[in-house]
Amino acid sequence: MDRVGRATAPGKIILSGEHSVVYGYPALVSAISLRCMAEANFLPEPGIEIISKDLGVRQVYSADEVLQLKDISLNPKTDNLAYAVYKTLEYLGLGPQKEEGISISLKSEIPISAGLGSSAASAVACVGSVLSLLEKELEKEQISQLAFEGEILAHGTPSGVDNAAATFGGFLRYEQGHIQKLDLTSKIPIIIVNTQVPRETKSLVAAVRSRFEENEPIMGDIFEAMGKIPEAMIEAIYSNDLRKIGQLMEINQGLLDTIGVGHRSLTEMIWTAKEYGAYGAKLTGAGGGGCGIILPKDEETGSKIIESLSEKKFNTFKTQVSQEGVLIER
Ligand code: PMV
Repeated sequence: MDRVGRATAPGKIILSGEHSVVYGYPALVSAISLRCMAEANFLPEPGIEIISKDLGVRQVYSADEVLQLKDISLNPKTDNLAYAVYKTLEYLGLGPQKEEGISISLKSEIPISAGLGSSAASAVACVGSVLSLLEKELEKEQISQLAFEGEILAHGTPSGVDNAAATFGGFLRYEQGHIQKLDLTSKIPIIIVNTQVPRETKSLVAAVRSRFEENEPIMGDIFEAMGKIPEAMIEAIYSNDLRKIGQLMEINQGLLDTIGVGHRSLTEMIWTAKEYGAYGAKLTGAGGGGCGIILPKDEETGSKIIESLSEKKFNTFKTQVSQEGVLIER
């Protein structure tokens, strides 16, 4: 059969509240306009094939291998995606043992392993492309949940916020496992800067934990202050007050520096943004390198910031907070 299924899903940024969220405070997350695209086709044999142009991998899973993915890993780069596809087929009552298999090709605009939710966006796009191919419909909650199954396989105990952002789009407030989509439609122009300094979320979270244990009363107060930022930011976004959003980004960054997740590369990008009069800039995600976000004053200053950062070998992406979650071709 030459039917094709297609779906796309966005990456995410954390606007405020990273790290303090681990201590029970809220975080504000939004989907961005960088997206992952998935195309699904039928295969003559049963099983699942995942092809990722960006990761440079092609992995075929037989029907039996798919069933054992929880225990036996075949390829850590694609197992989570094959598993999300398998769970989707299972949910639809179509096990991987049916006569035809499914092949999914992925292409992504979202930088990989940079804290921008590329793995969750890929999983959501995979689930969406299967629904498109099979001409089936599911509620967004269910799509997010099926992608989450893949995320659990890949990351152990993810919060679930990345797959929620990739599915629902827009702004999300996350607190202690509860994800709430906010009724905010502002279009905020953001420049994402990849410092290209590798970092690992797990070790940064652990380093913050040991600083907390050694300095509990002080660190406790810092987290409490950080925990107030998402609410204030939501208010500023409601009133489209870009100056205020930028100021809150700067305060959040100052606090993030005190807990030890800053990095020379992030400071350099933040000061470059400031020199050009950006409203604000901060790291996004775990810090220690990785990505930062800048809120430019206007198009012209945004272009100057990008030019200057590119000369300094940073990777920059112009984006917007995106209202669009998963889009499934029908
Ligand atoms: O960079 P990311 O997307 O892995 O974000 C990490 C956010 C933290 O708050 C540091 C950790 C977490 O689990 O929330």
